[in-house]
Amino acid sequence: MIITPQTAELRRQLAPMRGRERIALVPTMGCLHEGHLSLIRKARRLADTVVVSIYVNPLQFGPNEDLDSYPRTFEADAALCETEDVDIIFHPQNLYADGPPPVSLCVAGLDRCLCGTARPGHFDGVATVVAILFNIVQPDLAVFGEKDWQQLTIIRRMTEGLYMPLEIVAGDTVREADGLAMSSRNRYLNPAERRRATGLYRALSAMQKLAKAGETCCATLVAHGRERLAAQDIEAEYLDIRDAWSLEPVANLSGNRSARALVAARIGRARLIDNVPMPHASAPVNHTEPEEVSR
Ligand code: PAJ
Repeated sequence: MIITPQTAELRRQLAPMRGRERIALVPTMGCLHEGHLSLIRKARRLADTVVVSIYVNPLQFGPNEDLDSYPRTFEADAALCETEDVDIIFHPQNLYADGPPPVSLCVAGLDRCLCGTARPGHFDGVATVVAILFNIVQPDLAVFGEKDWQQLTIIRRMTEGLYMPLEIVAGDTVREADGLAMSSRNRYLNPAERRRATGLYRALSAMQKLAKAGETCCATLVAHGRERLAAQDIEAEYLDIRDAWSLEPVANLSGNRSARALVAARIGRARLIDNVPMPHASAPVNHTEPEEVSR
């Protein structure tokens, strides 16, 4: 496994593979967990050469966010990548050494809802760094997690809209046994907060279950989810059902539209997000009950 902070070295290493082998990129901010590793494994199955980038991107953090305290665990991350047979870790020190990029990307529309409302500029920062990473690595495919559904949607739309020549592959959300979506920010939770945090997936699962039982009115489904959040003393930043591709609000579930239930909430100092597919009115999804947690 090659570890390099340098763009020129990365490109030198990749040059012989270009056009002959499929190159996959898995962009991360490090502090790797099973969620990241599942994306790396997917990349490994789909490509000959797997590049993992590890870079805590300052452009996507707001002024009062956790850029300084974001966990940095490079040694452990590198050991995990080695175990997963990663070919190259790209670990730049600073992609903006000369200051912010002279030209950056601005996400149109898709960031005016959900996480974009509470985190103005966040998705511009994500789109800009992902475009930079795509330009540096020039992969045939890149793998992103469904856990960050709005991010995945924006990256898909960016890639299509800017005619970027690569495929975007999505990976399922990996969860703890009690349903909590794995996240680098789960380490901010103390034991009591960690127990409350299961309320996010419980609420989403309850909404899925009610929809599966035939409820199609999204306001009713959201109210049901809110009750479940309240039971765990969680006040959501948002809990909503949106069109899976346009992120527009959905009033009723229907057979010909994919919808997603999405939630964000602050628990202690962690801001956590999660989402699940909603069953189509005529095609139920498999519902997985979270294991009971002791309260
Ligand atoms: P990060 O939070 O490190 O996540 C890197 C990738 O792992 C993202 O595609 C994210 O959706 C995925 N991921 C995180 N938790 C997951 C889980 N529990 N199951 C499956 N996949 C999961 O997302 C970012 O970094 C950054 O915004 C980045 C895209 C790297 C740009 O800086």
